[in-house]
Amino acid sequence: VDPQTKALRSLYADATKLYHHLLVNTDAGDTALTYLHERGLDDGTIDAFMLGYAPENDVLYNYFNEQGVDYQLLRASELFIEWDDGSLHDRFTNRVLFTIRDAAGHPIAFSGRRLSNDDSQAKYMNSPESPLFNKSQELFNLDLAKGAIRKQKQVVLFEGFMDVIAAFQAGVQNGVASMGTSLTTEQVQVLSRMADKISISYDADDAGQRATKRALDLVAQNGKMTATVVHIPDNQDPDEFLRANDVSAFLNVLSHNTEDPIAFNIRYLRMGRDLTNQTEMFAYVSDVLGTIATVTEPVMRETYLRQIGEEFNIGLDALQDQLRPLLLQQQ
Ligand code: UTP
Ligand code: MN
Ligand code: MN
Ligand code: MN
Ligand code: MN
Repeated sequence: VDPQTKALRSLYADATKLYHHLLVNTDAGDTALTYLHERGLDDGTIDAFMLGYAPENDVLYNYFNEQGVDYQLLRASELFIEWDDGSLHDRFTNRVLFTIRDAAGHPIAFSGRRLSNDDSQAKYMNSPESPLFNKSQELFNLDLAKGAIRKQKQVVLFEGFMDVIAAFQAGVQNGVASMGTSLTTEQVQVLSRMADKISISYDADDAGQRATKRALDLVAQNGKMTATVVHIPDNQDPDEFLRANDVSAFLNVLSHNTEDPIAFNIRYLRMGRDLTNQTEMFAYVSDVLGTIATVTEPVMRETYLRQIGEEFNIGLDALQDQLRPLLLQQQ
């Protein structure tokens, strides 16, 4: 690797250690440590993920500056914000830090969570891209998860840091997060080299469902993995579900409370539509047929057709007539 990458890696490794130390060993980190304990994380998990705490007062800048670290290197690291006078100041202040590591395990970025529910601050603040951090390619926790992913040939995709970490603590080691809702083609490609199967376990809320749709489309475009959608009950995210239920209930949801992509898409098409309105019902049926046309297995196709037919009292012949031209388009 080139000298700058090497120097930046070492900077991030040091920053990770300092932030972790501040969290677990100092009074300044007490509130943050209590926050994490109250969210159900034990000390082993806090260590394994090298979670940290960023206090106020430019602690990180002063630490590196006292060691005489080069200004241009500090600047390139994106760990600091540059003021108009050129001075550098800690980007992360008074936040719990999630360390983002690359697939080889080097820390390359941070995401800082606010400790309060104060909505005037963003819930998470993320490192911008840097020479180490290409956002669209990285998946949170891939380094720790890749062994389990390869072994099981299966990956569980979550939305958030806490979902991955809570699942990991519960024994689910093949979980990664897309860090927000916009999964990318590159991330899917990375996963498809390790897994045959992907379980999408996003949040149960509307944003999570929209993101699931997007993820399914990307996985289908990639064409190398089978996808399953996991439904977290009670409108929760996986971390919330784990806090409210025991591990066996969570494992049960992950492997059984699932839907195949076609069933998900049919349900997704329903959202926001008033199906008692005939115009909307016709549009819905037409969209559903578009989805069914992508099914290659005739038995599965007919099963879905019958379901739709029964629900809206439409004969199978009419549905098949309308499906036929769509099938030809698919070929
Ligand atoms: P969520 O809003 O679902 O947050 O966003 P969460 O993971 O459940 O967070 P907790 O449990 O309240 O701590 C999912 C993911 O989207 C990214 C983060 O990666 C987060 O984990 N995100 C969310 C941001 O980058 N910025 C935000 O302000 C919010
Ligand atoms: Mn430690
Ligand atoms: Mn969410
Ligand atoms: Mn969430
Ligand atoms: Mn959450």
